[in-house]
Amino acid sequence: MISIHGLTKRFGDFQALAGVELEVPEGSVQGLLGPNGAGKTTTVRVLTTLLEPDAGEVTVAGHSVRTAGHLVRRNLGVSGQYAAVDDKLSGFENLTMVGELYGMRRSQAKARARELLRDFRLDDVADSKQAGSYSGGMKRRLDLAGAIVARPPVVILDEPTTGLDPRGRRDTWDAIESLATSGTTVLLTTQYLEEADQLADKIAVIDAGAIIAEGTATELKAQAGGAWIDIVIAPGSDGAAALAAARRTAQDAMLDERSRRLTARATGGSDAFRAVLHALADAQVDVAEAALRQPTLDEVFLRLTGSTATEAGAEADSEAHDDGAGDADVRDGDSRDSDGHDGERSPEPSRARRLQTTGSSERSGDAAETGATESPDGEPDKTSKVVVS
Ligand SMILES: Nc1ncnc2c1ncn2[C@@H]1O[C@H](COP(=O)(O)OP(=O)(O)OP(=O)(O)O)[C@@H](O)[C@H]1O
Ligand SMILES: [Mg+2]
Repeated sequence: MISIHGLTKRFGDFQALAGVELEVPEGSVQGLLGPNGAGKTTTVRVLTTLLEPDAGEVTVAGHSVRTAGHLVRRNLGVSGQYAAVDDKLSGFENLTMVGELYGMRRSQAKARARELLRDFRLDDVADSKQAGSYSGGMKRRLDLAGAIVARPPVVILDEPTTGLDPRGRRDTWDAIESLATSGTTVLLTTQYLEEADQLADKIAVIDAGAIIAEGTATELKAQAGGAWIDIVIAPGSDGAAALAAARRTAQDAMLDERSRRLTARATGGSDAFRAVLHALADAQVDVAEAALRQPTLDEVFLRLTGSTATEAGAEADSEAHDDGAGDADVRDGDSRDSDGHDGERSPEPSRARRLQTTGSSERSGDAAETGATESPDGEPDKTSKVVVS
């Protein structure tokens, strides 16, 4: 239903899209997952005919964005990264206007607006208030409702829940799920693995303008090495003793001394978690927080690219690999031996998988535990490459 083949786009000398490949079958929900600056919105802008591609074949419902833009737009509903609603109109007026723009009769448009306002839990403010007075989450939901007024067969949602509170996110997820149930083909971009996990049948991971991995959430998490043990050592407890205890019981144990965060691979799930907690107790280490958690987007990226999603040009600027004591650098499945120390590191540039991003501050906690650094200037490195095995 959506087909993207060899899509490239440059802005000046910056290669924003470097050969995107994506096929979205009819009736499926496709997640496009990537950090800031990965190329999600640029892809969406090409799909919605707002931006002309430099090269590549892009079709929506069988129509080329180059040669049949009007047919693409007729088949498409879009909710952009920033809600586009008319602040002066009420929610009801906004949706009615959209319906009329799509060629509905006024009575039809009004009925459809009512239906959507109910679905998106906006009916109590729909008439009395101008949309300008709505909260960010309410505007977002109104914008999303606007995207589906005309029941388009394909809906594209660019970061539909960024900036929403948990309730707003839940409501939006519900709305997207009901869209999917109705047979609509959905492409949604997100920075959150759990969101893609919740909503998408398949996830494509985009990085530096190219798709670097595809699969279900479970497959991607498995590629990232499965679940992790995440423990914060209580102040006053001995970090070195904690690390030694964790290393005796679990693989890939690491300690970030600054945050006192100890992480290790939870091979075997909760058994491994219990074993580490027992080992820490035996070593007289007090624990402030403890969790068994699924890999984050950062860890998926780390596995796929050798860098976390929060890591940027700093690493890519230097060809120097570390001395084996740190963990910030290339860390892929076959580069470590079973006791958690780095094994053979791969010095040749072709295996130095990298990710350039503009950094995503909410993930900085994850960056700390993997030893990654924030981009100093947010400027993506234009020369480094992502090599996917
Ligand atoms: N009009 C433009 N001119 C120059 N550079 C641009 C333009 N639009 C996008 N870019 C650059 O292209 C890259 C990809 O941007 P894009 O907006 O597609 O990222 P994104 O994945 O949507 O990120 P975010 O999660 O922050 O929305 C970024 O480095 C961005 O700075
Ligand atoms: Mg974007």
